Amino acid sequence: MPLLVEPALPAGSLGAQEQPDLPVRPGLALRPWRVDDATAVRAAFGCPDIQRWHVLRLDDDDQARAWTAQWEGRWRDETAVSWAIVGDDDRPVGQVGLRGVLLAEASAHVSYWLLPAARGRGIATAVLLAMTRWGFTQAGLHRLALEHSTANTASCRVATRAGFTVEGVARGSVRHADGWHDMHLHSRLRADGPI
Ligand SMILES: CC(C)(COP(=O)(O)OP(=O)(O)OC[C@H]1O[C@@H](n2cnc3c(N)ncnc32)[C@H](O)[C@@H]1OP(=O)(O)O)[C@@H](O)C(=O)NCCC(=O)NCCS
Repeated sequence: MPLLVEPALPAGSLGAQEQPDLPVRPGLALRPWRVDDATAVRAAFGCPDIQRWHVLRLDDDDQARAWTAQWEGRWRDETAVSWAIVGDDDRPVGQVGLRGVLLAEASAHVSYWLLPAARGRGIATAVLLAMTRWGFTQAGLHRLALEHSTANTASCRVATRAGFTVEGVARGSVRHADGWHDMHLHSRLRADGPI
């Protein structure tokens, strides 16, 4: 059946190009994942703080390599994107990306984590702002949503510092290892203004 409204973004808006590298600030950048990042990925998925707020686990190096390798296909099929957050030495210290990309609605959901040694230096806020700027100015997205457990105060601070307005609480909507969590919903719209 025909649509009443044209898709906000046409197919190919993302996947027809290469996933870009994004500068963040001196000594910090975003780049696509490589298979040789698997060791850092295993360390991240083994970190109790990251396990606490996420739903996947990796049991061996093959699964970590598969995790790094999945992103090229997801970029090409325009459903998700993930960047390695890297310092001057090009080694990953974290991940930031978009899930649930909907070109028809020009929207997506934000995801991020940092290895423990990289925390507390404003990195999550800086990379979220850099990716959001790319999403609104280069990718043509209209809305980015961000959800975190109401118990995750650090993530709430990152969202708020990056200009993601609080929309409300989705009660009992995500199940982590310790049970159901109420989720705080934030969003930022392109129309909210320049970054
Ligand atoms: C959440 C996380 C990404 C924050 O990364 P970070 O680079 O340390 O965050 P920033 O340095 O940008 O800090 C941003 C704000 O959060 C605050 N913050 C950081 N860690 C905090 C903590 N453990 N408790 C309370 N506030 C914290 C900072 O003080 C800062 O607030 P301020 O500007 O008012 O001072 C990181 O702690 C992490 O990876 N945690 C585990 C995984 C996770 O929670 N992912 C998000 C799932 S939704």
